[in-house]
Amino acid sequence: MKTGFVLRNVEFKNRVLVASGTFGYGDETRDLVDVAKLGGIVTKSLSWKPRDGNPPPRIAETPSGMLNSIGLANIGVHAFIEKKLPYLRTLDTRIIVNIAASSVQEYCDVLALLESQNGIHGFEINVSCPNVKEGGLSFGTNCDLTAEITSRLRALTDKPLIIKLTPNVTHIGQFAVAVKEAGADAVSVINTVIGMAVNAKTRKPKISTVTGGLSGPAIKPIALAKVYEVAQSVDIPIFGIGGITNAEDAIEFLLVGASAVQVGTANFIDPRTGVSVAEGIESFARDQALGDVGDLVGTLKAKKDMSVLQSWL
Ligand code: SIN
Repeated sequence: MKTGFVLRNVEFKNRVLVASGTFGYGDETRDLVDVAKLGGIVTKSLSWKPRDGNPPPRIAETPSGMLNSIGLANIGVHAFIEKKLPYLRTLDTRIIVNIAASSVQEYCDVLALLESQNGIHGFEINVSCPNVKEGGLSFGTNCDLTAEITSRLRALTDKPLIIKLTPNVTHIGQFAVAVKEAGADAVSVINTVIGMAVNAKTRKPKISTVTGGLSGPAIKPIALAKVYEVAQSVDIPIFGIGGITNAEDAIEFLLVGASAVQVGTANFIDPRTGVSVAEGIESFARDQALGDVGDLVGTLKAKKDMSVLQSWL
């Protein structure tokens, strides 16, 4: 049974990764998860300098979901290289470093520094955080700027370059086309959906920044529709993200066109979810007598002319 896939020049042993911000820098779960059974780990976003993030409260539970406004809190790229990368290098899985920044130059500086290090297999670029005033959505909702960031970073690396797109736009497919043309190897679809939670008794928002990013099973139908739209728009690989808690969820993403998936919020309930999703996909493919998990990708039985997305597609 073939479970893996190749992105640019890197082979992944299977199609299940853990999503940025839900698995730290890979070392917190060292006694809990056999990460060698994952396709890869995507690190928490890194910026040039350390960031404290937003003031608390910055997480609230919502029906079937989680609202966060972490604000890209992270240890900064220098501490990552010194304190986290040596451990990550020892792991038998692919390491994708997620980068966030407040300026185009900062993205370039962080990526260029990481490019000079061993043990990093690719980069995921966060242009879609809904919880910061500079960078984040102000970049990711501007198609020209998203393309400019992609082409500037493309010039700096021959490793896989993955752009993480926001669902908080009218036509995510247009952004996928723009980043493909600017040199991206793949897209991650989706980052969180802007949401809000209110405490009726105190009349206050449940998180300090009033709005935040919604994740978890509540957003899975949105994520599936966005992956489907992107898959109809471009032919580069898609990492499907959004509310995956089991193998069946992940298979739905493969069917609508994702080449691989990332497990996110479910890690906060059980950090071994990614491993069980990978095992479950493999046994599903075996039951279906497939020789390659990749045979599931994009095989949704749907009449394209029935899709109400067709005015854009
Ligand atoms: C955060 O750090 O606020 C979440 C990251 C993101 O949504 O991209």
